[in-house]
Amino acid sequence: MRGKLITIDGLDGSGKATQTKLLGEALTRCGLRVRTVSFPRYDSQASAPVRMYLSGQFGEKPGDVNAYAASAFFAVDRFAAYRQDWQQFYEQGGLILADRYTTANAVHQCSKLPREEWDGFLAWLFDFEYGKMGLPAPDGVFFLEMDPSVSQKLLTHRYEGQEQRRDIHEKDLTYLARSREAALYCTQKLGWQHIRCDDGSNPRSVEEIHEEILQRVQTLL
Ligand SMILES: Nc1ncnc2c1ncn2[C@@H]1O[C@H](COP(=O)(O)OP(=O)(O)OP(=O)(O)O)[C@@H](O)[C@H]1O
Ligand SMILES: [Mg+2]
Repeated sequence: MRGKLITIDGLDGSGKATQTKLLGEALTRCGLRVRTVSFPRYDSQASAPVRMYLSGQFGEKPGDVNAYAASAFFAVDRFAAYRQDWQQFYEQGGLILADRYTTANAVHQCSKLPREEWDGFLAWLFDFEYGKMGLPAPDGVFFLEMDPSVSQKLLTHRYEGQEQRRDIHEKDLTYLARSREAALYCTQKLGWQHIRCDDGSNPRSVEEIHEEILQRVQTLL
């Protein structure tokens, strides 16, 4: 009996890790067999090309590696995780909650392409990972939308005094803005669950966002 896969995506610092953890705890309390996973897995050998890319070894700008090549790097890490970590659990009926997934390639790589190429890229991406590589497609996708001016404040502490730790995506605010447009496009076109996480100047409370996600997830399971 195949399990279920729910993915939680969003731009940097939108609360993905926070909400994935809370959702996992809540669904476990409801008696479901749940595991949370997170991508990219920076500590895995399979993410080496991702780390090389994000640290600028193929170029200092995100656009120095085209959308298709960069997507392939992230896909390899997911394949390894699936095979080595969660395939069995999923195939035995478990529920996987993923903090980022193939959907993150949709958000962060579309932004490198002209808008008229987005549909073609998305079709390629989903066929590549779910069709050709054989990774499971999600049963539901949440997009956490937080205004970058708000999420950047939440992340300030993480990088305080260590701005050089930001990766090439995080350093590039124009790229971030394009990624936001791409994310909203995907949310509409692909029917993702849209969760607004701020009121324009401040984040909504963690608990309030959690309650909204929990309510909606019940309709997907
Ligand atoms: N709604 C919220 N209100 C206030 N603080 C929050 C909220 N959600 C998350 N945070 C805090 O903001 C920071 C970023 O959150 P988190 O790590 O969950 O985001 P993320 O989307 O996983 O980030 P990244 O993209 O960097 O992986 C953390 O310090 C977290 O505790
Ligand atoms: Mg995170």
